[in-house]
Amino acid sequence: MSEESVRARRRFIAGLGAAPVAGLAYAAIADSERGVPAASAVDRQAESSEYLLSPGLIHLNTASLGATPRAVFDRVMQAWRELESDPVRMAYFTTEDTVLSATEKVRERAAGFLGCDPDELLLTRCTTDGMNNVAQSIRWNAGDRVLTTDQEHHGGNLGWLYQTQRRGVLLDRITIAPDDHDQAVIVQSFAAAITPATRVISVSHVITSTGLRMPIAEISSLAREHGILCVVDGAQAVGGFPIDVKALGCHAYAASGHKWLMGPKGTGLLYVARDAWPAMKPIQWQNAHNYGAESAGVGPLPLVVGLGAAIERLQAIGMSEVERRGLALRNRAYIGLKQIARLRVVSPPPGPMATAMVACELPAGIDSKIVRDFLRSKHSIVVKMVEKQWFNGIRISPHVLNTDADIDALLRALRPLLA
Ligand SMILES: Cc1ncc(COP(=O)(O)O)c(C=O)c1O
Repeated sequence: MSEESVRARRRFIAGLGAAPVAGLAYAAIADSERGVPAASAVDRQAESSEYLLSPGLIHLNTASLGATPRAVFDRVMQAWRELESDPVRMAYFTTEDTVLSATEKVRERAAGFLGCDPDELLLTRCTTDGMNNVAQSIRWNAGDRVLTTDQEHHGGNLGWLYQTQRRGVLLDRITIAPDDHDQAVIVQSFAAAITPATRVISVSHVITSTGLRMPIAEISSLAREHGILCVVDGAQAVGGFPIDVKALGCHAYAASGHKWLMGPKGTGLLYVARDAWPAMKPIQWQNAHNYGAESAGVGPLPLVVGLGAAIERLQAIGMSEVERRGLALRNRAYIGLKQIARLRVVSPPPGPMATAMVACELPAGIDSKIVRDFLRSKHSIVVKMVEKQWFNGIRISPHVLNTDADIDALLRALRPLLA
C-alpha cells in the first residue's frame, strides 16, 4: 500500500471520530474519541479480511450498497487486465477465451439464478436503469395509466413520471401505511384501483423503507387477469432470498447487482418475459442479446464478470441459507429494537412478510440524520436514514457479512441515546 493511501486511510479513520453530532445532549456523545490503530495494524487487519471494508466499520446498509467481497473485486481486476491485453479481441470476439464470452456466461448464470431464459435477461447498470428501460420500451397512448404504490423508490418510479411528461401517461398510487402488513388488503387495494385504462402495475418486491415483502405472485396474477403488464422493482429482493421470476408470473423484473448480490457497483439485471416482448422489448435487443452486438454496444465487461463471481459466491452458500442468515440477524434486531421504548418498529414482525431489513421510527425530537451520523461517527456503524417523505427513522439491512455482534453493537449504541 502506498504512503498516500496509508495517509488517506488514517485521515478517514480519524474522521470517523470527529464528525459533527450537533443537537444531541446525551452523555453517550461525550465519550472520548475512538482510538485510532496504527496504520500497519490497520493494513494487516484489512488485508486478511474477506471484505474490503475499512477496519472496524460495521456495515448494516446492504440495502443501499453491498460490500463487495475481496475475491469478487480481484476477479474484476483480473478480467480488466485480460481485456486490456487485447482490447478489440477481448471485447468483440465470441471465441471461448474472451472477456465478452465470460460476460455471456454471466448472463446464463444470472438467468439460472432468477429462473428465466438467458435471452430474457438484459445486463443493466442498476435497478433504475432497468425500470427506465421498461418504461421507455412501452408504446404509450395518452391517457394510459400506471398503477403503483406510494412506497416506491425514485428508481422504480421516475421512468413512469417521465412518461407522464412525455406521453400523457397518468399515475395512480395506492396507499400502504408503514405498518400495514396485511397482504390480502394490499392485493385488494390494487384490485380496487384498476381502471380500463390501466396498462401497467408497477410495484416493489420489497418495500424500500420498511422491508415489507409484497405479494408479487398475487399482484402479477391480478394484472394478467386484466391484461395489464406487471413490472417489479426487485432492488431489495435479489440476492437476499431465492427468486423465481417465472413462479412470480410478472412481465418484467429489475434488480441491482450492487446491493444484496454484493457485486460491482454499476451492475444490474432486467428480466423481460418472452410473452411481454411484443409490448415492451428493450432497444438493446433489436438485433441480438449480447454486449458487442450493434444494439447494445460495449458494456462494462469486467464489472459484469465480477457480478458473475458475486452470484456464484451466493449460490455456493445457497440462497435459502443466505435468507435464513439475514432473517436471523434482522429478527435479533427486531426484538432488541422493540425493547427500546421510545422507538416504534414499523417493519413486519418475524414471519412471512419479513425480509432482512428492519426500520424504526424515532421520537419526534430526535432527528434521524443526527442519529445516523452519530452511529457512524461514534460507533463506526453504517445505517440508512429513511427518506423523510416516509418517516423520521433509521433502517438496517444485515446480510451474510454481518454477525450477531454487529446487531448487538447497534443496540448498545442506541439504548443510551434513547434512554
Ligand atoms: C426499491 C428500490 N428501487 C430502486 C432503487 C435504486 O437502486 P439503484 O440505484 O441500484 O438503481 C433502490 C435503492 O435503494 C430501492 O430501494
